[in-house]
Amino acid sequence: MTRPAQPSTAMNLDSNGAAAPQAAIAVENIVKRYGDFEAVKGVSFSVADGEIFGLLGPNGAGKSTLIRMMTTLIPVTAGKAIVAGHDVTREPDAVRRMIGVIPQALTSDQDLTVEENLSIYAKLYSVPRAQREKNIAEVLEAVDLTKWRSAQTKTLSGGMRRRLEIARGLVHDPSIFFLDEPTTGLDPVSRIAVWEMLNHLKKTRNLTMLVTTHYMEEADRLCDRIAIVDHGTLVALGTPVELKQSVPGSNVVEVQFANEHEEWKARLERFPDVTEVQAQSAGVYRILTSNGSRTTTQLVELAASLGELLTSLSVQNTSLDDVFVHYTGRQLRDEQVKTVNFVMPPRPGSRP
Ligand SMILES: Nc1ncnc2c1ncn2[C@@H]1O[C@H](COP(=O)(O)OP(=O)(O)OP(=O)(O)O)[C@@H](O)[C@H]1O
Ligand SMILES: [Mg+2]
Repeated sequence: MTRPAQPSTAMNLDSNGAAAPQAAIAVENIVKRYGDFEAVKGVSFSVADGEIFGLLGPNGAGKSTLIRMMTTLIPVTAGKAIVAGHDVTREPDAVRRMIGVIPQALTSDQDLTVEENLSIYAKLYSVPRAQREKNIAEVLEAVDLTKWRSAQTKTLSGGMRRRLEIARGLVHDPSIFFLDEPTTGLDPVSRIAVWEMLNHLKKTRNLTMLVTTHYMEEADRLCDRIAIVDHGTLVALGTPVELKQSVPGSNVVEVQFANEHEEWKARLERFPDVTEVQAQSAGVYRILTSNGSRTTTQLVELAASLGELLTSLSVQNTSLDDVFVHYTGRQLRDEQVKTVNFVMPPRPGSRP
């Protein structure tokens, strides 16, 4: 686990800042400005050949903006991105030949068949005819859509359509694959099917993948390394295990007291093994501790001595959720449902 890589004069940096000449993607201090607004504020990381690298962050973090710059879809304001050995600003065509891109929105043509959607893309990439047929058959097999090749795209389920888009991104046999939220909007079963498919693709096709997501579980199960992005900044980078180990406390105790008292948080913070206490809602606390069982015992003793009732109690290992809260001070899940209320103070002299 490392803190965000600092800008450096060397281009190919691994997560420890060491030279990594084989990096598939090397991004250095990259910035994107829209007018006065800085959507990406100087991000640096590199992705090794054959790695599945995750960009994890809430809505508006800058994930799609980063992908769009790396895939030559929007200009880079400042900094550098080298993809498959080519500079995205100076050699965009060379970059495009080496990459496959699955954008966040579904873009396959609903009125065409599965095979036609793939064929159009293969032609766009000038894949020769004989090779085209072979590639289409291979990618259909890889995403398990062979028997749907003649079906109209509009008849596919959401999960199947995602798989078609993944097949389409691979039809010209790219070496680096960019996927922007490949499972957003899918039901849990289709989501897991897509993860398994991406893992299989990685193993069988020697692909490097960069995936964006705001699902913790997806990042945890799929990615070799994860960069947490928040408000256009890279806040942490490492393997899922490294990231979890970087958070003080190895267990999470979740407790719900029947009655909320102001002093619960302060009392819990005084427990010897506790490193962090997060108030979740009235009477509900998430406690990071280096000794889950001892903290649990102390919690039960405390409640008993005060005659208070516990309505629920659970102990888990630290998750990527805890990592996210630790580095950003917020819950990733909250970001998706956050509403903002503006209360205007009365103007001087105005009537109440
Ligand atoms: N063309 C644009 N003009 C102005 N601002 C933009 C533009 N595109 C994106 N932004 C802003 O840049 C920020 C980052 O957006 P981006 O789409 O990269 O986020 P994201 O991490 O992909 O979020 P999501 O999870 O919702 O897809 C947001 O505040 C967004 O409003
Ligand atoms: Mg996005």
